[in-house]
Amino acid sequence: MGLSRKYANTITQGPTPADVARAPGLPYPSGWSALAFSDELRPGTVLTRPLLGEDVVLYRLRTGGVRAVRPYCPHLGAHLGLAGLDGDDLVCPFHSFAFGPDGSCVRTGYGTPPPKAPLDAIPVHEVNGAVFVWRHHDGREPDWRIPAWRAIAGLPTRHVTWEMAGNVQEVIENSVDIGHFATLHGWVRAELGAPIAYEETNFHVSMRVRESAPLIGEFDVEVEVDGYGLACLQAEIHTPRFGLRMYTQVMPTAIAPNRMQLRQANRVTVTEPSWSTPGLARTVTRAVTRALEWPLFRSSCAFTAADFPIWHHKRYQQPPRLGPGDGPIGAFRHWARKFYPAEGVESRSAAHADRSLERAAPERVNSPGG
Ligand code: FES
Ligand SMILES: [Fe+2]
Repeated sequence: MGLSRKYANTITQGPTPADVARAPGLPYPSGWSALAFSDELRPGTVLTRPLLGEDVVLYRLRTGGVRAVRPYCPHLGAHLGLAGLDGDDLVCPFHSFAFGPDGSCVRTGYGTPPPKAPLDAIPVHEVNGAVFVWRHHDGREPDWRIPAWRAIAGLPTRHVTWEMAGNVQEVIENSVDIGHFATLHGWVRAELGAPIAYEETNFHVSMRVRESAPLIGEFDVEVEVDGYGLACLQAEIHTPRFGLRMYTQVMPTAIAPNRMQLRQANRVTVTEPSWSTPGLARTVTRAVTRALEWPLFRSSCAFTAADFPIWHHKRYQQPPRLGPGDGPIGAFRHWARKFYPAEGVESRSAAHADRSLERAAPERVNSPGG
C-alpha cells in the first residue's frame, strides 16, 4: 500500500508524547471495530489483526461467511493465525485439530474422537465492504449494528489502512470539531446546518461548507456525516456545482494503548448530464468518474492525513478549554462516555491531568517539527 507507507513516514518520525505516555487518556472503547476490508478476506483466507492489545484471527469460509476468533487453539495454545482451512474447517497447524464453521472441534490429527473444545468466537459483522468485530468491557453481546450504507455497500471502493498513535474517539470527534475544518483542512468556512442529532449509538452532522480551489474560486459543499459508535464515520460530500458526490467511510480501531489503525474507503459518483441522450450521458459519466476516482481518492486521503500529525502527537485534553467558534465538543464527549466503563473515564481523566504536569518539559522537546 503505497499511500500507507507515504503517510506512515510523515507521521512516525521521532518519539511522540502519546507513545511515551505511561497510560492512555482513555480506556479501550466498547462496540464494533473494523479489522479488515472485505476484499482482503477471500474464501479460504486466514488473517491475524491486532485489537485492544490482543490478536484476533479472522477467516472466511469457502461458503462465504466470515468468522472471528481469539487467537489461541483450545488444545495446547498454538496461534490460529498459522492455521489453514480444509473446506470450511479451520485446521490448527500443531496437532491438526479441526474446527467446524460453528467453532466446535470436529476431529483431531490422530483420528481419535474430538474433545469438547470449541474455538473462542468473537461476534463479527460484515457490512459496507468491511469486517467489524465486537468487544464489550462487561462482556455484553452486540445490541446494535452498523447499518448498510447504500452508497458503498456491495460496490467497489478504493481503500487504505494507516497506523499511528492516538485514540479512536478523537477520530470520531473530528466530525463535530467544526473549528478545525478551516484552520487545519483549509476550508474557507464550515458551519453546522442543524444541531447535531444524537441517538443511542449514532449521531448525524449536517454541515454547510465553502471551499475554494485554484482556477475555480469558491464553491459550496454540503457535508452529511453519520457516526456509528466510536467505530465508523460515513461522510457524503456533495458539490452541487460539479455534480460530484464523494462517499467516505472512516473506521478507527484501537489496537493497543494509545495506538490505532485507521481504515478509509471511498467511492465517487458524478451526476449524468441532462444535455445528452441517456446512452451517451451514461458513457460520458462513466468515463468522467473513472478519470476522477484516483485523484479524488488521493485528495480525500490527503484531507484525512492533515489530522495525522495532530492525532499522532496530541494528548486527550480533558476537560478541554473551549471558546467561541468551537464545535459542540462537550456534547459529543458526553454522548461518547457510554462506550467506556464509567469509572475508567473518571479515574484516567484525573490521572492524565496530574501526569501532564510531570511531562510538560519532554512534551515540548518532542513536539512535531521540534
Ligand atoms: S495446539 Fe492446536 S491442535 Fe494442538
Ligand atoms: Fe479533521
